[in-house]
Amino acid sequence: MEPEVKQQLDEILSHYRGESGDLIPILQEAQERFRYLPSEVMREIARFLQLPEGTVFGVSTFYAQFKFVPTGRRIVKVCRGTACHVRGGARILREVEKQLGIKPGENTEDMEYTLETVACIGACALAPTMTVDKETHGQMTTKKVTEVFGGRGKAE
Ligand code: FES
Repeated sequence: MEPEVKQQLDEILSHYRGESGDLIPILQEAQERFRYLPSEVMREIARFLQLPEGTVFGVSTFYAQFKFVPTGRRIVKVCRGTACHVRGGARILREVEKQLGIKPGENTEDMEYTLETVACIGACALAPTMTVDKETHGQMTTKKVTEVFGGRGKAE
């Protein structure tokens, strides 16, 4: 493990007593810090909690919130739900793909963005919608996509 990763993980672990109930909060903090859960980090968490590695891997793969491959600094989610679909969600997704130059499940080369699609972000009245991290963008148009990404796709 790289010393910098080890140092950051130790700092996270220092907030916990090492009880098995600490597993999920530690995984959440680790993911927030590293943006995904590297396998060496999960092994170290297992050691700290004195749990079998298989348990830590098993629990983390059970929850959709945990990621096991590196993600970009910002997560973009475009809604593919019915309300968004009927209001042009597919066009918004195409525009985001074009401007970022990636497909859902991919990261931009500079690791700034990861693109995902979701079934509904719970803001159907604002359809079509997308989120960038915790920000929700509603009533999306292709022009608004450009505003969100600062003309990124056009500049390249
Ligand atoms: S269907 Fe898109 S926000 Fe609900």
